[in-house]
Order: sequence, then structure tokens, then C-alpha cells
Amino acid sequence: MSQVTISVKGLSVSYERKRVLTNIFLELEAGNVYGVVGPNGAGKSTLFKAILGLIDVNNGTVVINGKTIQDVRKEVVYVPQKSDVDWQFPATVYDIILMGRYPHKKMFQRLSKTDHDFAHQALEEVGMTQFKDRQIGELSGGQQQRVFLGRALCQQADIFLFDEPFVGVDITTEERIIKILKKLAAQQKTLLVVHHDLSSVKNYFDKVILLNQRLIAVGDTNTTFTEENISKAYGAQLPILHKTGGLS
Ligand SMILES: Nc1ncnc2c1ncn2[C@@H]1O[C@H](COP(=O)(O)OP(=O)(O)OP(=O)(O)O)[C@@H](O)[C@H]1O
Ligand SMILES: [Mg+2]
Repeated sequence: MSQVTISVKGLSVSYERKRVLTNIFLELEAGNVYGVVGPNGAGKSTLFKAILGLIDVNNGTVVINGKTIQDVRKEVVYVPQKSDVDWQFPATVYDIILMGRYPHKKMFQRLSKTDHDFAHQALEEVGMTQFKDRQIGELSGGQQQRVFLGRALCQQADIFLFDEPFVGVDITTEERIIKILKKLAAQQKTLLVVHHDLSSVKNYFDKVILLNQRLIAVGDTNTTFTEENISKAYGAQLPILHKTGGLS
């Protein structure tokens, strides 16, 4: 069995008085790309924010590589859901990608050639080299998303949390990035990806987490991503998914 890198025990979260996550237990192992799947409002983004220590939790603990998030922050990459990002922030594509290196630097420490090498490599990996001097506010939605993925790759972290990274990204880029994520998993990284397209879950992810306020199921995609578990997660929304071919 691989090493457990993220351990969530009895996690419950509420916003004001509304309970959003209830008693979640997860032991996530290095060397995997986990698909995080569940309907709108299931608490997927909230789970990420709780793992990252960005919100208060009612109950439970999160341990990352045996430590609290505060002690391992530079080892953890987070790409927020698009709606959470201010795109008017004045910066070029290259500035944003290079920001992936800052967590590794001490205050006022200069960026090295290695930092710039990582940034160029990341630009190349997300196919944005030709746009490197463009302001991020002047990019298409899919290009903006690729820049944020590039920043994540540039950080060279141990744990990656991607919240709907493929929204607006074309299928060629999506498949190229999935390949990169699988390569990172093969290097014993731990990756979590919130994903809405149920038809690609089996191709993209070794493991899946099905969530709807409670943990519905977690495990190997082959045995866990079953029609029964999907129904439990989506409930009444399921017939719509069938009609759109999402579960073929
Ligand atoms: N800051 C907040 N204040 C109050 N309620 C919130 C806040 N953020 C999220 N919620 C509520 O908590 C629930 C879970 O939200 P969350 O964003 O975690 O869902 P999600 O699974 O990521 O959904 P989606 O697929 O739409 O991104 C929703 O009902 C949402 O309305
Ligand atoms: Mg969300």
C-alpha cells in the first residue's frame, strides 16, 4: 500500500447554520489521481478549502504528510474554481506562472535560473509559451485556465488540488494536461481533481471520491464508480445525466 499523504478524520463544515459537509473520513495515498465527483453544492470546493485550512471547520482534523497544513503549505498546490479568481489583477502570463515559485522562496530572495527554467517548462506544458507576455485579463477563458494550471505545475509540489481545472479548456489541452497529471502521480505525487464530466471519469482517474455532503464512496474507479454509487451521489439529477449521455 502506498503512503497516506492526506488524512481527513470526522470532518464537518457549516456555513452560518447550514451544514455542508458531514463526518468525512478519507485516507488518500501518494501515486494517485483522485477524481472528486458530485453534484453542484455537494461540498467539493468546501472540502478543498477545508483541506487547505482556508475555512473554519466545525469538527474533525486534516493531516498532510503527518503535519498540519500550516507546516506543509509550500508542498500543496491549489487551483481554485474559476469563479473564485480575479482576472483583472494586472500581471502577465509569465508573472502568474512564476508565482508558482514564490512559496519556495524566503522574503526578498531572488528567483534563480532554476526557477525560470521551471516556469518555461510549465509554459510549454500548458501550451502558453507564445502568450507569455500577455496580460492575463486579455486571455480567453480556456487560456486563463491553462495559465493557472501552469502556475501549479511550476510550483513542483507534492500535493495538487484542482477545482474544475478543465472548465472552458479544449479537449486537446485537457487530454495533454491529464497526461501530465498521470505522470506526476507516477512520481508519487497526490492529485485531487474536481470533475463534472462523468463520461471521462474512468479514463482520467485511478481513484474516485463520490461526495454529496456525506462521503458516498471512495476507492478504485473500476469498483467504486458504479451506477449504484453514482445514483446515491446525484439522486434525482441522475435521469438528466442519462439523457445527455453522461453515463454511457
Ligand atoms: N462562503 C459561503 N457562504 C455560505 N454558503 C456557502 C459558501 N460557499 C459555499 N456555500 C454553500 O455550501 C454548499 C457547498 O458549496 P461548494 O462550493 O462546496 O459546492 P461544490 O460541490 O463545489 O459545488 P459546484 O459543483 O457548484 O462547484 C452550497 O450549498 C453552497 O451554496
Ligand atoms: Mg465547487
